Amino acid sequence: MKSIQIAIDGPASSGKSTVAKIIAKNLGYTYLDTGAMYRCATYLALQNDLKDKDVEAILTLLSESPISFGRAEDGSQTVFLGDQDVTLAIRQNDVTNNVSWVAALPEIRQELVNQQRRIASKGAIIMDGRDIGTVVLPDAELKIFLIASVEERAERRFKENQEKGIETDFETLKEEIAARDYKDSHRKVSPLKAADDAITFDTTGVDIQGVVKFIQEKAEKIIDRG
Ligand code: DC
Repeated sequence: MKSIQIAIDGPASSGKSTVAKIIAKNLGYTYLDTGAMYRCATYLALQNDLKDKDVEAILTLLSESPISFGRAEDGSQTVFLGDQDVTLAIRQNDVTNNVSWVAALPEIRQELVNQQRRIASKGAIIMDGRDIGTVVLPDAELKIFLIASVEERAERRFKENQEKGIETDFETLKEEIAARDYKDSHRKVSPLKAADDAITFDTTGVDIQGVVKFIQEKAEKIIDRG
């Protein structure tokens, strides 16, 4: 059977990772959460009190404590820096509110994009992020760009945070999501945007299973054709 690359991009909390994980499981594909990788770089920067001028130091820390992924007993994905489990730490507000400046550093992007391409080269991959269809996997057979209203995305993130026990105020969350959208779409390097050949899907009011069905049917058509 043909194995393909699936790129899912979109703004914060547009549902990318939730649907990508389900589709990966259904198709038996590898799932790569590239946002988690930028969060890891941000975590290292904050832990070591580093700023954007310290990009070399952040890269050194990344090579000393490589990013890897594992699986918890309940089947959920875990994230490691070296042998430290940072799954929860990288979802905290300080990381979320600083990730945009770290993700705007070209040297950091180059390093993480190289790692992402290395993982994708094994095939049968579904990757989610901001620049997968445009930069990381420009030849991906299926490119999806997910969007949803800020209001709905804030509601989704609010619920997610509640489940993870992270304190948040809804209005603040909405402002933070809008601010992150702005920074991610206006940065010089690899800004958030749909690839010319991506299919844009507005998930406002659509449940997870509806989004999964939409993408998976498209993927299966391409796989069967192969
Ligand atoms: O998907 P997320 O919210 O966990 O991503 C965290 C941040 O990482 C996001 O604000 C922008 C950045 N990011 C990026 O620049 N490129 C990617 N491919 C993935 C995420």
